[in-house]
Amino acid sequence: MNVTFPDKLNQLADEVAEKGYAVIDDFLLPQEVEAILQHDDFKSSLLQFKKAGIGQRGEKQINAEIRGDYIHWIDRTTAHAPLLAYLSKLNELMVFVNRSLYLSLKDYEVHLTVYPPGTYYKRHLDQFKKDDHRKLSVICYLNKNWKENEGGQLRIYRTQGAIDVLPQAGRLVCFRSDLLEHEVLAATRERMSITGWILDQHADLRHL
Ligand code: OGA
Ligand code: NI
Repeated sequence: MNVTFPDKLNQLADEVAEKGYAVIDDFLLPQEVEAILQHDDFKSSLLQFKKAGIGQRGEKQINAEIRGDYIHWIDRTTAHAPLLAYLSKLNELMVFVNRSLYLSLKDYEVHLTVYPPGTYYKRHLDQFKKDDHRKLSVICYLNKNWKENEGGQLRIYRTQGAIDVLPQAGRLVCFRSDLLEHEVLAATRERMSITGWILDQHADLRHL
């Protein structure tokens, strides 16, 4: 069966409404993942990326005991075509979810992410105490042929118990930022993703 992109958005909206999260395979096609991986930002990632902090600007702290990833915020005015193609799909997702779930999401903020082997992100919620504008967390993975024994699962804590998601290339995970605690388990190989949040306000000046 050939599952179209609108079918996938439909499935995503249904699952987010029902359970608070959705896992969608092949949100990005293999050639789209490949094009993003060829991008300069990922080639020299650890040199260019900044160590991610916790908390908001001003009170941001780097705490490797809580999270060990490196991030690079995507600037829409300078991003290369393969990333713009991803942002355009994310925009379609936002418009679709607004229509089908009667939300008024307005914008998104997105960064590239690299977890070096052995690093992790302890259990947390994606909303900050003083900023509840992040409504949906949306992560797309870029790791080809990820094996279960390589670790790196996204563990989502639900009331009925946790579920683990492997960071498989092209797979997208979307969940309620205000509701679902989650963590990233350590992996034996580098773990790459595009991490974003759909906001109920405009993203200008939030991070750039
Ligand atoms: C985050 C996060 C999950 C993942 O960046 O806040 O929880 O699977 N990421 O990378
Ligand atoms: Ni998170």
